[in-house]
Amino acid sequence: MNHTAICYRHFGLPEETLKVESAPLPPCPADRLRVRMLCAPINASDLIPVTGAYSHRITPPVVAGYEGVGVVLSAPHGLSHLTGKRVLPLRGEGTWQTHVDCDPDWAVLVPDEIDTALAARAYINPLAALLMLRLYSPAGKRVLLTAAGSDCALLLGQWALRMGAVSVAGIHRSVVHAQRLIDCGITPVSQQDVQAVERIARDSDLVFDATGGQLAETLLQTLPDAALFICYGLLSGQPFRQTRRLPRMHWFHIRNYLDDLTPARWQSLFSEIWTLLKISRLGGIRCFSQADWQEAMAFYRAEGRTEKPMLVMGEI
Ligand SMILES: NC(=O)c1ccc[n+]([C@@H]2O[C@H](COP(=O)([O-])OP(=O)(O)OC[C@H]3O[C@@H](n4cnc5c(N)ncnc54)[C@H](OP(=O)(O)O)[C@@H]3O)[C@@H](O)[C@H]2O)c1
Repeated sequence: MNHTAICYRHFGLPEETLKVESAPLPPCPADRLRVRMLCAPINASDLIPVTGAYSHRITPPVVAGYEGVGVVLSAPHGLSHLTGKRVLPLRGEGTWQTHVDCDPDWAVLVPDEIDTALAARAYINPLAALLMLRLYSPAGKRVLLTAAGSDCALLLGQWALRMGAVSVAGIHRSVVHAQRLIDCGITPVSQQDVQAVERIARDSDLVFDATGGQLAETLLQTLPDAALFICYGLLSGQPFRQTRRLPRMHWFHIRNYLDDLTPARWQSLFSEIWTLLKISRLGGIRCFSQADWQEAMAFYRAEGRTEKPMLVMGEI
């Protein structure tokens, strides 16, 4: 059987560095689940490593992609009940390939009622949102989000409200996100309206920022001293400086929390995620075959998109 993967052999701009490679499928190690991938999204988190941002801990050649969903083709002794089931084959090989051999401890069974396209997006953004809200409780706080049309911010906003936030406002770059934010109970604020941004910042207690750059600097200069500023992404590609001692600022990286999770805790977090995802709104998806990954990348880069590009490796 043939196996096809989107991988990189050196660091660089993803569009120039990623390549599709095919080879005969090697035998599956006896202690692994072999998963035939159905689909995997393109997230910022998948592309940042390709650029070399984590060159201290990632050494190419590497298959790209951190999350996705597939069907178990074969399982180690004692786990044959998983054969034919949908799972998330996480925390091992890259997911932008037709087959993933994964450690059963970190594979997550997808409940029957969860749609395949939703399951494919159930890890990076939902787990990051849940862990951030556990670390920095929104209860009783006025929460402010940036890049508010992103999947991660939409989940942060909806779940912050469920966890007792007094209010959630979302700064969005493209106007196309405004109505979706309102539908999620989040007050939209245009990033271009500097006065409105400063006004909402003066009235915020807890910020989850994924943009960095000028917007982060404006917020840090305007927030009350007692506020808390969490930076979890740098979508602008620009760093920022904090010129005041307060508000307090923390960086959040999901990887810093993964090593401490036992398999049991990992599985229990996903039980929570499935429950939350069933009652949450997210943008739609746009499907691209694995061979059309460059088209998918161009779609990913387009400003004002409301859908997540999904690489499709099998029938979904
Ligand atoms: N630290 C962690 O552990 C962790 C974990 C998960 C995700 N993240 C971060 O979360 C962020 C969102 O990821 P996602 O997968 O949820 O994104 P997504 O759904 O693909 O959406 C990205 C959105 O960001 C907006 N955006 C892009 N560049 C922007 C800029 N310069 N200024 C303002 N808005 C901008 C775009 O909106 P428009 O084009 O419409 O304006 C786009 O809708 C990323 O930075 C990612 O790295 C971090």
